Amino acid sequence: MTRSPLTELMLHRRSVRRYADRAVPDDAIASLLECAHLAPSAENSQPWRFVVVKDAAAREKLARASLSGIFSPTRFAGKAPVIIALCARRGGVVEAGKAVKDRAMYQLDCGIAGEHLVLRAEELGLGTCWIGWFNRRAARRALRVPFGVKVVALIAMGYPDRDAGPRPRARMPLSSIVSLDTWGKSYPAAEAQDEGEK
Ligand SMILES: Cc1cc2nc3c(=O)[nH]c(=O)nc-3n(C[C@H](O)[C@H](O)[C@H](O)COP(=O)(O)O)c2cc1C
Repeated sequence: MTRSPLTELMLHRRSVRRYADRAVPDDAIASLLECAHLAPSAENSQPWRFVVVKDAAAREKLARASLSGIFSPTRFAGKAPVIIALCARRGGVVEAGKAVKDRAMYQLDCGIAGEHLVLRAEELGLGTCWIGWFNRRAARRALRVPFGVKVVALIAMGYPDRDAGPRPRARMPLSSIVSLDTWGKSYPAAEAQDEGEK
């Protein structure tokens, strides 16, 4: 199969944890936020809310509050020129009924929106890293996120540091994660894909 520009982007993207000392233009940030906002969501509920943390003092405050102690392995995110806090407004119509309450659709919605954002960032030459390991309560306080809104993830972003260098990404073989028709029955196309990659 030929590879489209989108496929090439997905192949090229990797988590970037070291950033160049270079500002990210506002029009680039606006563009990737627009792409995030184009994501599908359950009942078109659009639960995502974004806090773009650019100001150095605000980033430091967020990092000190939410990326310290047991969360210090993600402290590198504080050095990114931009941190986007991906938040979710809770309690919309999708969460109203008991039957759907436990399905946490907002998590899926925000995941899709976040990946739209990440892929557009990649297209613009920006490196990103999803951060799930942070102190949510402290992040809420630092960012003054109101009651009823959850901080789902942070996305650190900046132009990749030249020395950060690409590193191989480990992925399981496709055939080990895909079944045909019923769980566990092998899917020959996935095996062929694995063979092609050897
Ligand atoms: C929801 C989510 C949360 C993540 N949280 C962290 C994190 O807290 N710290 C970190 O260094 N990387 C984090 N990552 C990045 C993953 O470690 C990374 O995507 C994975 O190792 C695959 O590497 P790649 O992104 O370079 O392909 C997270 C990724 C996702 C999708």
